[in-house]
Formats: sequence, structure tokens, C-alpha cells
Amino acid sequence: MLKNKDLIDAPVEPFSLFKNWYELACKTEINDPNAMTISTILDNQPSSRVVLLKSYDEKGFVFYTNSNSKKAKSIKDNPNVALNFHWKSQNRQIRIEGQTSILDNKVADLYFKTRPKGSQIGAWASNQSHELNSRSELIESIKKFEEKFKDNQIPRPKHWNGYIVKPHLIEFWQEMSFRLHDRVEYNLLKDTWHIKKLYP
Ligand SMILES: Cc1cc2nc3c(=O)[nH]c(=O)nc-3n(C[C@H](O)[C@H](O)[C@H](O)COP(=O)(O)O)c2cc1C
Repeated sequence: MLKNKDLIDAPVEPFSLFKNWYELACKTEINDPNAMTISTILDNQPSSRVVLLKSYDEKGFVFYTNSNSKKAKSIKDNPNVALNFHWKSQNRQIRIEGQTSILDNKVADLYFKTRPKGSQIGAWASNQSHELNSRSELIESIKKFEEKFKDNQIPRPKHWNGYIVKPHLIEFWQEMSFRLHDRVEYNLLKDTWHIKKLYP
């Protein structure tokens, strides 16, 4: 258990600090250090679920999903989202707020090619977020697409896309003794990151 860490040494921009924390979490989390909660809003109702971060840089945080899913429909309606990483092994969380857009097809094609065949078939076979009458219906759908693509490279379905969240707020939170946690918030205003500490 990590306690009494040094206070956060905040660089002028948040991405190097994100990298630093993320890479440490990759060494210490039991699984899925790249798991992040994404919250979206549809019809004024927030909704959260976990997705996997697949890449990140100053342009934003990337994940992949089905564009007919609940989250994707929410994003189409309202691109403002919140991301949250919680790394239990580090007693740290990172909160991100930003605007989401769909990645270029070429980037998604390249990433899709790297996925295991089973996951590629799954992207075709699963009508994500829609009602499933029985497990056998899903199995049948998988068989159908296995047969369809049996001798061929599996193309990326048009409904399976990469999404990038461009952040305008990033908060770094780390646990400290007696709940006197250390919080640093970065706000992007006119292309410049402004930094402040927050009461725990
Ligand atoms: C650890 C973990 C990783 C996940 N990664 C993804 C992902 O990268 N993309 C995705 O579409 N769903 C992922 N899921 C499933 C989502 O949490 C969710 O069930 C699914 O995307 C449907 O959400 P929606 O109906 O709100 O669109 C993951 C779930 C967990 C627990």
C-alpha cells in the first residue's frame, strides 16, 4: 500500500504527468491498467461504462467501440464526456473532461488489423447494446460471420470505430494520509494549460 507519497510535482502540461502515472500503473495493476470509465449523457441522463484506452497523446485519449451502441449514440447527440481512471495499486485517480470525435477511418482500419481474429468476428457479430433474445442467437451470428470471412482478411465493419476524447480538463488525484489527498487540476484555456490545486 502506497501512502504518504510526495506531493504531485506538476509539469506545465498534463500529458507527461499522465504518461508517468499510467506507465507506473501498467507495472502495478493486477489487470487492465488501461481500463477507464466513460460517462456520456443521453436525454439528460448520465450513463457510465468501462472501455479500454488504446492510445493517447496531446490530441486526446482513444478507445474503440460499436457506433450503434448506447455510448456512441449518446456521443453523437452530445460529444461532451468524462473519463475516469482509478488505479487501486497506486491510490490514484485521473479525471478527464472533454469532447469526443470519431477517428479517421484509416487509423481505425490499422488498429482493427491488429486485433485477434475472434475479436474481429465479434465486432461483426455483436449488435452491441441491443436486446439479445438468447445466447444461441449470438453464437449463430458468430458462425455466420466466420463462414462469410473464412478465407479472407476480415475488414473493419463501418459500425466499429475509434473515438478520441480531446481533453479540456484533467485532474490528478492521489491519496494522502488522513484523507488530505493531493489534487491538481489542469484547465485548457485558449491553448494554454492553467494549473491549480484543489482542496481534497
Ligand atoms: C475492463 C473492460 C473493458 C471494456 N472495454 C471495452 C471497449 O474497449 N470497448 C467497448 O465497446 N466496450 C468495452 N467494454 C464493455 C463496456 O463496458 C460496455 O458494456 C459496452 O461497451 C456497452 O456499453 P453501452 O451499451 O453503454 O454502449 C469493456 C468492459 C470492461 C469491464
